[in-house]
Amino acid sequence: MSTRKIIIDTDPGQDDAVAILLALASPELEVLGITAVAGNVPLALTQKNARIICELAGRADIPVYAGCDAPLSRTLVTAEHVHGKTGLDGPQLPDPVMPLQDGHAVDFLIRTLRAQEAGTVTLCPLGPLTNIAMAFQKAPDIVERVQEIVLMGGAYFEVGNITPTAEFNIYVDPQAADIVFKSGAPITVVPLDVTHKALVTKPRNDAFRAIGTPVGQAVALMTDFFERFDREKYGSLGAPLHDPCVTAYLIQPGLFTGRHVNVEIETASELTLGMTVADWWGVTDRAPNANFLGDIDADGFFTLLTERLARL
Ligand code: RIB
Ligand code: CA
Repeated sequence: MSTRKIIIDTDPGQDDAVAILLALASPELEVLGITAVAGNVPLALTQKNARIICELAGRADIPVYAGCDAPLSRTLVTAEHVHGKTGLDGPQLPDPVMPLQDGHAVDFLIRTLRAQEAGTVTLCPLGPLTNIAMAFQKAPDIVERVQEIVLMGGAYFEVGNITPTAEFNIYVDPQAADIVFKSGAPITVVPLDVTHKALVTKPRNDAFRAIGTPVGQAVALMTDFFERFDREKYGSLGAPLHDPCVTAYLIQPGLFTGRHVNVEIETASELTLGMTVADWWGVTDRAPNANFLGDIDADGFFTLLTERLARL
């Protein structure tokens, strides 16, 4: 089987953690490295949490780099109200022993994309797009070397979760998102329209716990903690597993459907800042620039996820 080389750019976050675990459990994927960005919680915690999760998966060999600690031009907005003060509230996991890599995540992104054969590395942003945008600004030559960007962010029918019109990852750094969506790199967007259909219902959470391993227990506890926000807010039947949908798309794209449309980012209006303006109905002549997903086979997704987590 040919493996797909990926770099995960992330702001763990319980759902980021599950996305990383799924990637590390899947032989179809080769994780070249993990780059941490400020988002759900500050950078000092996201880089620590990324290492905690690698060690939970038994993969202290994965290089983890710290990236940007703030958006390109805005003040950082975090989401402790969703993820807890550590970003990984729920399970009690030990502090990491594996070291943080020297050097900046942006330089790792640039160095790796230049070193690997062009068109063979997929970037998987699971948080604000600050690291990706800064890498593209610092080294424009790497854009055409990217195989694909598969990112969690944005919304069309679901509109927003941090404001009435914006999804958190895009809202935190709309300028970075604008750079990425205008870069010309092939992009697949996993928006709230998909992730709000990937809910950790009680039977699904019970299935995580029934795995009977430290990973299964940790995932059950993380999603238990993470869901209380969405249950209070949406009355939903469980936590939406946003970021693992990115990993699942890489492994089994047939679980998803979407369409190739134009997506532009609101970067000026304070009312709608960070909105992903997706031309879902093709009412403009703007050139399509993203494969914007709209639906998911949720049962198939959880079957894949649970089976893979059991391998760790
Ligand atoms: O809006 C959901 C996204 O914001 C997820 O990636 C979650 O981890 C947070 O980063
Ligand atoms: Ca995230």
